Amino acid sequence: MDILLINGSPRRGGNTEIMADAFIDGARQSGNTVTKINLSETKVKPCVGCDYCQAHDGVCVQKDGMSDVFAAMDKADMVVLASPIYSYGLTAQIAAVLNRLYARDSIGYHPSGCALLLDSYSPDVFSAAVEQYRELAAYLKWKDRGFVAISGMVEKGAMKTSPELPRVVDFARSFR
Ligand SMILES: Cc1cc2nc3c(=O)[nH]c(=O)nc-3n(C[C@H](O)[C@H](O)[C@H](O)COP(=O)(O)O)c2cc1C
Repeated sequence: MDILLINGSPRRGGNTEIMADAFIDGARQSGNTVTKINLSETKVKPCVGCDYCQAHDGVCVQKDGMSDVFAAMDKADMVVLASPIYSYGLTAQIAAVLNRLYARDSIGYHPSGCALLLDSYSPDVFSAAVEQYRELAAYLKWKDRGFVAISGMVEKGAMKTSPELPRVVDFARSFR
């Protein structure tokens, strides 16, 4: 299966990317092909709500990194969203990508699955992000393949030594 992983952390090499890379390792062990997009580098502006896309076959008026995201999505069977928790929710970077999917409303896009990776400082802060992800997946008709959430991340790189990291690898190995 072709998997697209979108890392919504603005911090390159941070806890979310370490988690994302663990997922990629596990998914590749099961024979999947994985493409990673770091939104720290691939810049996606927020949707401006102009509705140009609704009258132009899903083409967005904004020309930025979202073109790369759409191109990668078109080749992918499955999309994995990775985000640190910011203010009890997803980051602005990943929210921008989700908002910009609006352009595809008129033409549709149905990968065989989607999954979510989350990390945070505090425990029990994942519910809003998980709820948004689940509602959106249902709306888009993306089959929800589950999520992994790991808390206790204070310093950059703390994820490397988290005893929970192997859970991400195991989760990823289940995709084929
Ligand atoms: C702007 C900002 C907001 C954050 N908000 C929360 C929060 O609401 N709850 C929480 O538990 N952690 C919060 N955190 C901590 C991050 O989720 C956590 O440190 C995460 O591992 C950072 O991922 P990264 O290394 O990929 O940047 C916040 C961090 C930042 C920078």
